[in-house]
Amino acid sequence: MVTVRIADFDADYAALRAIRFTVFVDEQRVPEEIEIDDDDPRCIHVLALDDGDPVGTGRIDIAKSGKIGRVAVLAPHRRSGVGEELMKLLHAIAVENGVHRCWCHAQLSAAPFYEKLGYRITDEEPFDEAGIPHVQMECRLADAPE
Ligand SMILES: CC(C)(COP(=O)(O)OP(=O)(O)OC[C@H]1O[C@@H](n2cnc3c(N)ncnc32)[C@H](O)[C@@H]1OP(=O)(O)O)[C@@H](O)C(=O)NCCC(=O)NCCS
Repeated sequence: MVTVRIADFDADYAALRAIRFTVFVDEQRVPEEIEIDDDDPRCIHVLALDDGDPVGTGRIDIAKSGKIGRVAVLAPHRRSGVGEELMKLLHAIAVENGVHRCWCHAQLSAAPFYEKLGYRITDEEPFDEAGIPHVQMECRLADAPE
């Protein structure tokens, strides 16, 4: 059974790093020196566990007005709702911290995943990040003031 929880960046570092390196560095060829960055220590991280085994992660940067990033699910666990559960927890964390609008630099290939979660593209022009085309997207959370 898959569960999601808030991670402790120090205590869960090995698990988060392993997922991110498998997905972004090994699979997507993101340079490893930029994978863990200076924003990591202040972000709130989440972790998905399948019977205790780490299978997915993501982070939210409250200081950057709810910027969500590093959302990754190990390939064999995709398309079974893990990413959506991670995003729901990240959105709940946003609301708890007074943030009612989340945003991200979405990989173009992942834009449909974010759209299903209520995100819309705010700037149609794709830009390059780590050699991968991205678009900026945002989502007003359900209980956000009009
Ligand atoms: C993007 C990613 C996190 C999605 O995780 P996931 O666990 O497969 O997503 P879910 O199973 O929760 O999918 C939720 C919905 O989005 C859809 N979806 C997921 N990925 C999709 C994609 N790439 N294209 C179109 N739809 C997608 C699912 O079909 C599902 O729709 P449904 O509710 O109608 O069935 C995962 O594919 C991944 O780690 N990719 C590599 C890293 C990456 O690109 N991260 C995003 C960085 S911006």
